[in-house]
Amino acid sequence: MTTKTLRIALNGVTGRMGYRQHLLRSVLAIRDQGGVETAGGDRVTVEPVLIGRRPEKLAEIARRHDISEWSTEPDTVLSDDSVDVYFDSQITAARQKAIRSAVEAGKHVYSEKPVSETAEQALELARLAEGAGVCHGVVHDKLFLPGLLKLHRLLEGGFFGRVLSVRGEFGYWVFEGDWQSAQRPSWNYRSEDGGGIVSDMFCHWHYVLENLFGRVDSVTAKATTHVPRRWDEQGRPYEATADDAAYGIFELEDGAIAQINSSWAVRVNRDELVEFQVDGTEGSAVAGLRGCRLQHRTMTPKPVWNPDQPVTEPFRDQWSEVPDNAEFDNGFKAQWEQFLRDVVGGTKHRYDFFAGARGIQLAEAGLRSSASGQRIPLERIDR
Ligand SMILES: NC(=O)c1ccc[n+]([C@@H]2O[C@H](COP(=O)([O-])OP(=O)(O)OC[C@H]3O[C@@H](n4cnc5c(N)ncnc54)[C@H](O)[C@@H]3O)[C@@H](O)[C@H]2O)c1
Repeated sequence: MTTKTLRIALNGVTGRMGYRQHLLRSVLAIRDQGGVETAGGDRVTVEPVLIGRRPEKLAEIARRHDISEWSTEPDTVLSDDSVDVYFDSQITAARQKAIRSAVEAGKHVYSEKPVSETAEQALELARLAEGAGVCHGVVHDKLFLPGLLKLHRLLEGGFFGRVLSVRGEFGYWVFEGDWQSAQRPSWNYRSEDGGGIVSDMFCHWHYVLENLFGRVDSVTAKATTHVPRRWDEQGRPYEATADDAAYGIFELEDGAIAQINSSWAVRVNRDELVEFQVDGTEGSAVAGLRGCRLQHRTMTPKPVWNPDQPVTEPFRDQWSEVPDNAEFDNGFKAQWEQFLRDVVGGTKHRYDFFAGARGIQLAEAGLRSSASGQRIPLERIDR
């Protein structure tokens, strides 16, 4: 057995996603567990190289986590032949240029979503990466949530029969920033900085729908800005120019209808921050981040509409919890492991930039639908 070390340049590690999910929970966790096993029985391990804009912050992270290299000069890192992979979790607006440089430098590229600000740019990056023969991938983290893995298991086991509809409810209250600090960075609420819930969340909804239920054929959506004034990290008021809620209907290739509400201006009255209810001819299930409850047709009650009577059935109690039956690793780490195996194995990564482009295409179409009031069919994008 041989062990190969991949040197991974990580740009954006001072950010929320870059630090916690990608550096800590994924790359360092993989390093500390001694790497991952490849298809051929060898091992691949990782060595991070941090890239960023603030030297003192990078030095501090490097010291805290025993990382020997960091740099504020991306071009210098990219010109280093010993660096194999470039990863980007900067703000969305900064990503396309950085990934392009990495591909041109011959690096394998892995990215937070969205890969770029427009589907056209993402497609261009996908073709560039294909042409350069490098492995390209974009996060599909929600698919690795225990709740959605259980939903996948039910689908694979034929539990639902024919899937009729999917109803998703995502969101929570994001504080405005004056009275209580906002729990998300302010750029998310400025469209000029690449913010907006449609561009943020429709990418996720796209791969969830595509991988679990089938291709998305069209979208009808209404995006809006419910909270027009917010306060930034310095306590300064600003105009929220980006949408903070979106109400979308997605028609799937086999006729199922998905309807997903996404909002940063909603208070949670659910078990989890996101929940998907799937109704099929044979049964239904409600999946969240971790849990999944189901009801088979044989156990379905027969309610009769009568507003003059109090509720007679304990509807919520009539669902059964789907057992774990497995240990669920951190989803970001599981994806990194898949990507690293593809890099060393020379195999195409399933969640590639073309898939990333389809996600952005859906977001763009959602915004067009909202502006025009029309249903927007989606052109197929494939490798
Ligand atoms: N997969 C997910 O579930 C998920 C969740 C949230 C965000 N994201 C994506 O991750 C990316 C980063 O989001 P985040 O929430 O970590 O943001 P963040 O603001 O916490 O981090 C942004 C990072 O980009 C760097 N940066 C580079 N150029 C910058 C510039 N000009 N202005 C400001 N920062 C700049 C910052 O230093 C920081 O390291 C976004 O593209 C976002 O869409 C993905």
